[in-house]
Amino acid sequence: MQAKVLVPKRVFPEAIEYLQDKVELDYNGTDENLSAAELFDRLQDKDGVVSMLTNRFSAEVMDALPKLRVIANIAVGFDNIDIPAATERKIIVTHTPDVLTETTADFAFALMMSAARRIPEGERVLRAGKWDKWGIDLFCGQDTHHATLGILGIGRIGQALARRAQGFQMRVQYYDVFRATAEVEQELNLQFVAFDELFQTSDFVSVHVPLLPETRRLVGAEQFQLMKKTAVFVNTSRGPVVDEGALVEALEEGQIAAAGIDVYEREPVVEPRLLKLENAILTPHIASASFNTRRAMCMVAARNVVAALEGKRPPNPVNACLFEAA
Ligand code: DGY
Repeated sequence: MQAKVLVPKRVFPEAIEYLQDKVELDYNGTDENLSAAELFDRLQDKDGVVSMLTNRFSAEVMDALPKLRVIANIAVGFDNIDIPAATERKIIVTHTPDVLTETTADFAFALMMSAARRIPEGERVLRAGKWDKWGIDLFCGQDTHHATLGILGIGRIGQALARRAQGFQMRVQYYDVFRATAEVEQELNLQFVAFDELFQTSDFVSVHVPLLPETRRLVGAEQFQLMKKTAVFVNTSRGPVVDEGALVEALEEGQIAAAGIDVYEREPVVEPRLLKLENAILTPHIASASFNTRRAMCMVAARNVVAALEGKRPPNPVNACLFEAA
């Protein structure tokens, strides 16, 4: 008998083709989110689910899904799943690292540059027919080249951003609770600095930490107050890592020059005051959204769910401890 898998939302067709003859598939091929009740109902008889970051798996939800053995998340982040609870229940959780690293770093760099050089702001004025004359300081912004980039979190994506910064002759410094190896620091010409110093001395601060209890609201009023008035703040990690109210105040009061934000505290709801700010570039959680990368993420999740349901160690387990010999 084939294992049963739910794919609760539309994914790239290659992933469905891959899954189709390997599992008994229940596919909601639309972009509409299933209601909590319907999701719960359709998961009752499922062994696995290919989930998205909008699907929440708490201990209570898992308790009510006794057959569930695998949650294959189409994301590198997995803050939508209670990992200790899954591990306790021997539910394998997988994610999609690596395939999105370069694409996400590209996007973070794009946000840095567009915010610093005020590209969307200039475009809005032009399209509105309000560009009537050229002026010497028209839409002047900040330089990226030779500036100091502060990377908060030097994991895969943080390192990929550092690589891009080299091409712009930037000075790159970072803070992370885990210091990078000497080889990585040397290869990427990275300077390790204290948490406060990162905010005080960087021209750009880009956030690349996962959302954990310890990183929730890691960046708030205190950090924005430390930043240069000319600094640009970028977040492509998770919204709740940043205190959104404090970010709005920093932008409103000119404590920082601009921000490029792709993730929000209450997605898809965006703080209305943020929407009003000309010096904030706001995108709808799309840092990994290139066709190639999103297709690859779907395929990685599909391979993970199949491997795990075949009793193999999946390529990208989050709770890898489930595969360690007792
Ligand atoms: C991730 O992978 O965690 C992104 O936020 C979604 O692409």
